[in-house]
Amino acid sequence: MKRIVVTGAAGQIGTEMVVALRERYGRDSVLATDIRIPEGETGGPFALADVTIGDSLDAAVARHRADTIFHLAAILSAVGEQRPQKTYEVNIGGLFNVLEVARARECAVFTPSSIAAFGPGTPIDLTPQDTIQRPNTMYGVSKVAGELLCDYYHHRFGVDTRGVRYPGLVSWLTQPGGGTTDYAVEIYHDAVESGRYECFLAAGTQLDMMYMPDAIRAAIELMEADPSRLEHRNAFNITAMQVTPASLADSIRQHLPGFEISYAVDPIRQAIADSWPRHIDDSAAQNEWGWAPAFDAASMTADMLANLQTGSP
Ligand code: NAD
Ligand code: SER
Repeated sequence: MKRIVVTGAAGQIGTEMVVALRERYGRDSVLATDIRIPEGETGGPFALADVTIGDSLDAAVARHRADTIFHLAAILSAVGEQRPQKTYEVNIGGLFNVLEVARARECAVFTPSSIAAFGPGTPIDLTPQDTIQRPNTMYGVSKVAGELLCDYYHHRFGVDTRGVRYPGLVSWLTQPGGGTTDYAVEIYHDAVESGRYECFLAAGTQLDMMYMPDAIRAAIELMEADPSRLEHRNAFNITAMQVTPASLADSIRQHLPGFEISYAVDPIRQAIADSWPRHIDDSAAQNEWGWAPAFDAASMTADMLANLQTGSP
C-alpha cells in the first residue's frame, strides 16, 4: 500500500485519514479527492472527483497510479432519510464505481460500513458479528448492500476489499456530515462555546462510539493485516465504548462542572438510533487482526475538551 486515493477526503473521517496516511506513506503517495475542496490546507495533492461518475474516479486513480482506494465518500444516516434517492446513488452507485475501478486497475479497497447495517430484529446487546441485518433506513440498506458488494468483488474478481462497521465517531477537527451520532460531537463544541447543549436524542439512548484516532488506526491496521487471517473481510464490528447523551454530559462535567444538557428529541433521528444496537461484539476483529481501542469515554472527553479549548475548530 504505497499509492493511495482517498474519496470523500473533505469529510469528518477523510480529513484526518489523509493526514495519517501521509504521515505513514509519504505526502505525495496520498491523493485526496472529493466533490468539494477541503477547508484549509490539504497538505498534499488534491483532485475533484465524483464517485457517482465512474470516469471521474477512474481518471484520478489512473493519474495517481494508485494501488489502494480508501473509499469514504457517502451520505450519512440523517441526511439519508431526507434524500433517500441521492443516498442510493452515492452510497451504492458510488461504491459500485469504486469497485469497478479497483477491479480494472488492481487496487485494494477500504470501505466503512456502520452500526446502521443493523436494524429491528438484530440483537441489541453484544450484537454478534454475523446476525440478522434488516435495517429500515436508506443509509442502512446501502451499508448492507455495500458489505455484500465488497464480499462479491473479493470472491468473484479477487479484489482485496476490507472494511469495518464503525460505530458513531467523535472528533474535534472536522464537523460530522449529517448523521444520527452527530450529537456526540456537537455536545463538546457547545460545552466549550456556551456551557450548555440541547440534545436531539433522549438522555438514555445508548450507542457504540469511538474516538477518531482509534477509527483511523483501525482502518490502517486492517489494510495492513495478514489477509490469510481475515474471515470477515468487509464488515468487522468494532467498538470502543458505549455512551448515552446523559453519560457523555457527566463525563464533560468532570472537567466543566457547570455544563448543562437539555433534550429536544427529534423523532426521526431518535427512531434511527432506536433501530441500532446498544453494544456490538467486536471479538471477530480482535481475533482476526488484533483490534483494540486506546480511548474510553473519559480519555476521549479529556482529549476533545483540551483540543477544543486551545482554539481548534
Ligand atoms: P462525511 O459526511 O463527513 O464526509 C463524506 C464526504 O463525501 C464529504 O466530504 C462529501 O463532500 C463527500 N461526497 C459526497 N458525495 C460525494 C460524491 N458523489 N463523490 C465524492 N465525494 C462525495 O462522512 P464521514 O463521517 O467522513 O464518513 C465516511 C464513511 O464512514 C462513510 O462511508 C460513512 O458511512 C462511514 N461511517 C461514518 C461514521 C461516522 O460517525 N462519521 C460512522 C460509521 C460509518
Ligand atoms: N455516525 C453515522 C451516522 O450517524 C453512523 O454510521 O450516520
